[in-house]
Amino acid sequence: MNPSSTSKLRSRSWLDRTDRWGLAHRSSFRAQGFSTHVFEGRPVIGICNSWSELNHCSLHLKQMAEAVKRGVWSAGGFPLEFPTISLGELLMKPSTMLYRNLMSMDVEESIRAHPLDGVVLLGNCDKTVPAQLMGAISADIPAIMVTAGPQLRGMWRGQEIGSGTAMRKYWDEYRAGGIGAEEWSEIEGCLVRSAGTCGVMGTASTMAALSEALGMALPGSADIPAVDSRRMAAAEESGYRIVALARDNVCPTQIITAQALENAIRVNMAIGGSTNAIIHLIAIAGRLGLSLPLTKFDEISRATPLLVNVQPSGKYLMEDLFYAGGLRALMKEIVSLLHGDAMTVSGKTIAENVAQAVCDNRDVIRPLGNPLKPDGGTVVLWGNLAPRGAVIKQSAASTHLLKHRGRVVVFDGYEDLLRRVNDPTLDVDAKSVMVMKGAGPKGGPGMPEWGDLPIPEKLLKAGIKDMVRLSDARMSGTSFGTVILHVAPEAAIGGPLAIVENGDEIELDVANRRLELLVSADEINRRLQAWRPPPPHFERGYGKMYLEHILQADQGCDFDFLRATATSGGIGNFAELPP
Ligand code: FES
Repeated sequence: MNPSSTSKLRSRSWLDRTDRWGLAHRSSFRAQGFSTHVFEGRPVIGICNSWSELNHCSLHLKQMAEAVKRGVWSAGGFPLEFPTISLGELLMKPSTMLYRNLMSMDVEESIRAHPLDGVVLLGNCDKTVPAQLMGAISADIPAIMVTAGPQLRGMWRGQEIGSGTAMRKYWDEYRAGGIGAEEWSEIEGCLVRSAGTCGVMGTASTMAALSEALGMALPGSADIPAVDSRRMAAAEESGYRIVALARDNVCPTQIITAQALENAIRVNMAIGGSTNAIIHLIAIAGRLGLSLPLTKFDEISRATPLLVNVQPSGKYLMEDLFYAGGLRALMKEIVSLLHGDAMTVSGKTIAENVAQAVCDNRDVIRPLGNPLKPDGGTVVLWGNLAPRGAVIKQSAASTHLLKHRGRVVVFDGYEDLLRRVNDPTLDVDAKSVMVMKGAGPKGGPGMPEWGDLPIPEKLLKAGIKDMVRLSDARMSGTSFGTVILHVAPEAAIGGPLAIVENGDEIELDVANRRLELLVSADEINRRLQAWRPPPPHFERGYGKMYLEHILQADQGCDFDFLRATATSGGIGNFAELPP
């Protein structure tokens, strides 16, 4: 071995030592049956795997890790797989968002504490991808994101069904009496047919797309179906590529620039991506010390047409997007709106990555001249009810409700909502604005995806399929409807939402980005003076730390102490210390 040729590799501080701790470090690998060849200057590549049987979307990540290892070995690296917590949307309560920052810390500290020169991030369900990116940025060693890919499309009685979006649609039909228990059970059995992420443009598919738009995933990898052999090939290719990135020490802070973040916002608008992406991108920017105000999202939304015709904003499923040419074809279509010279982990620019892409279905990926909607999927609202902003996914909303004034029906938290929403005596009609308080970052806790408040059953039965709904919660990327989310500041810390009362009126004007509580400023102040905070959800453990440090939605819901500071200083190296 020639130490000088590999001296830049971080792992050498562990492996090249001649003292007893060097022996201890090397013996840890010899104990696993590796020969001394693994110490011969190979970059050590961590494979950060969020596989878990508590998270069905991730079930194939073990096989994908093996494919990554093949790539790492063949490029001359030394792969080592390690687990982290996993955030599965369907089982974790009260919300995976409560644990996104915990997972990011798990990722960051696992990288920092070990002799790794690069890392391949294997992520899947909604929050795992931003958590892994946030952790890798803060650790700042070379990293590539490899996502799980969308699951196979569901098929029920001749109809294609897309996971969460279909579940919500059929739930309303079930409640309205349109389908019975037998059909409901059949849907349960075929809604999710394989490993992989939800088959619509939910948060997982969105964050996979944005990983590629940020330059952190290899081109063409975002939307390959989970069980398609090409996904394994993409994983192998990523393993091959990370070795070169590790040798050249190309770190996330060099890839995720302000321009890359703008590219991701642009793509999010063009694909009709999840509202959750706004929170995650702000958090990612915060880890880089970059400011990403909500105004930036709105500015880009106004200048970006919606082109991807995939549910919940459109008609098709994620498989269709892949067969139509995938994200690369979409990015080629909007390349004139992107920072094409942004560098990516492929070693090429965004423009170079998409230059050869071909679109095979112009109804799935619309041309710029014939968009699905003339502007972006998500817009930002401001007003006296949301001084620090709120968002609405206009592409998944009802056009006739985008300008609306209605009488408020208030629910004081999710339990209150569940208790009363289907009460036949509830004073609500189709024009009402349903408001829920206490579901924000602190109030939820964890800002759960409760924002698409259920339509009261008596209105469903009368044929009402959508109403204006408003809260400080988030909603699943698979959801649809005229739903105002992320109202900031949240009610639990005394935002104006806290003092909204039954019978007040709210005015929504999406075209003018306005959201107003039609109550005088004096009366709002009087109510705020009388408002008292609710008791905290947690008094010990992680939950207590969460409540003390969580930031609001407009700040990305990161912990205040995890954002980059002038002295954050990257990975650090404790290898000189005894274990
Ligand atoms: Fe995992 Fe939707 S439940 S991506």
